[in-house]
Amino acid sequence: MKDLNTVYPTGYVLKKYNITRQTLYNWEKAGLISPKRDWRGWRVWDSSTLLDIENLLSSKKIQNNNKTISNNQRLMINNRRYLGSKQKLIPFIKKVVSKECEDIKTFADIFAGTGVVAHEFNDINTKIIVNDILYSNYLAYITWFSDDYYDFKKISKLIDEFNNMVVSKDNYVSRNFGGTYFTIENARKIGAIREEIESMTDITSREKAILITSLLYAMDKVANTCGHYDAYIKILDTTEPLYLQVPAIKKQEINKGNMIFNEDANKLVKRISSDLIYIDTPYNSRQYSDAYHLLENIARWEKPEVTGVARKMIDRSKIKSAYCTVKAPKVFEDLISNIDSKYILVSYNNMGQKGDGRSNAKISDEEIIDSLRKKGEIKVFYTDFQYFTAGKTQLKDHKERLFLCKCK
Ligand SMILES: C[S@@+](CC[C@H](N)C(=O)[O-])C[C@H]1O[C@@H](n2cnc3c(N)ncnc32)[C@H](O)[C@@H]1O
Repeated sequence: MKDLNTVYPTGYVLKKYNITRQTLYNWEKAGLISPKRDWRGWRVWDSSTLLDIENLLSSKKIQNNNKTISNNQRLMINNRRYLGSKQKLIPFIKKVVSKECEDIKTFADIFAGTGVVAHEFNDINTKIIVNDILYSNYLAYITWFSDDYYDFKKISKLIDEFNNMVVSKDNYVSRNFGGTYFTIENARKIGAIREEIESMTDITSREKAILITSLLYAMDKVANTCGHYDAYIKILDTTEPLYLQVPAIKKQEINKGNMIFNEDANKLVKRISSDLIYIDTPYNSRQYSDAYHLLENIARWEKPEVTGVARKMIDRSKIKSAYCTVKAPKVFEDLISNIDSKYILVSYNNMGQKGDGRSNAKISDEEIIDSLRKKGEIKVFYTDFQYFTAGKTQLKDHKERLFLCKCK
């Protein structure tokens, strides 16, 4: 029997599994494995880490054995298109937080969208709280951030089976979205996979969320759109086949203690407290419930009637955001006033002046500052990392700003 306390040096691991040092470090950086350190700070590998490596390699083998559709790439959280995603701003956000905020043990991202910002702060020392009004995003958070157990081999095997499904019969998706958003073949496959997931009785709720998330990401890759579902491109020229990938999920102990919600952020803030609350509301009148109606439809799988050229669900009232309406300054004020946190960090794009047009900002810089000022001291940062104490001018020429409030 193997001694559970035995640890092995990196050289041993490289030789045993015939992998490169870089591969090992990439997996570690992605949070897929976490080696221990010896007294010199060098990486050492115990039996549990070796098992993680074996699981990673076996998922690659399953995918490589599949000659018809094969690709050994794992799905990453940022492998999707999303309006207002802060992926590119992450270094800026991290820099502001690390230089300006002390002792952040909980990080709340309450308009989390893709979840990429929370993901960046999700480590062994920091617990995250994630929330979004869209259910499709909520399922993605269960995938990436839950600490519930899931069976990696089972997920890999099911995804492999889904990829090899051949579907010739029509279903809800092909009837409503075939030939427009997707090719008929992909639409049939999406419908059949989603139905199959719904009928499974031997998967946990986290495993179900992982499978649906993998499907939603795969749909996004082959959708005949320019990144959102307000419209499809008139000529269907996307012929790539649907291909699901196994998500690269951080280790269970990293996700331990994370909290995941699917509700109106204004209600949520009354119940949570956090060291830092990051706020990234929609900026203009474009509703995310419209832009992502199709992902929401597939995630919920209530198979509602759809309407109009864009084939949207008729009732989207529960997922409409007040931040896209004239009520935005008021709801923002209400949100801020109910926050219990040491720091509030607000992203607000200033691409459009405040106004009534579709792309006009719904909250002015002055309104943001007035709301934050009631909570504490404010600093405003630009992408070049300069700041000035809140004032009225200068702000408008900068595309990306962060408003940081150190609460009293
Ligand atoms: C600008 S996006 C956030 C992007 C995110 N930071 C990222 O990097 O992917 C705004 C998000 O707020 C969500 N949202 C809108 N109104 C909301 C509300 N009242 N409560 C919670 N989430 C809301 C939208 O669904 C959308 O995902």
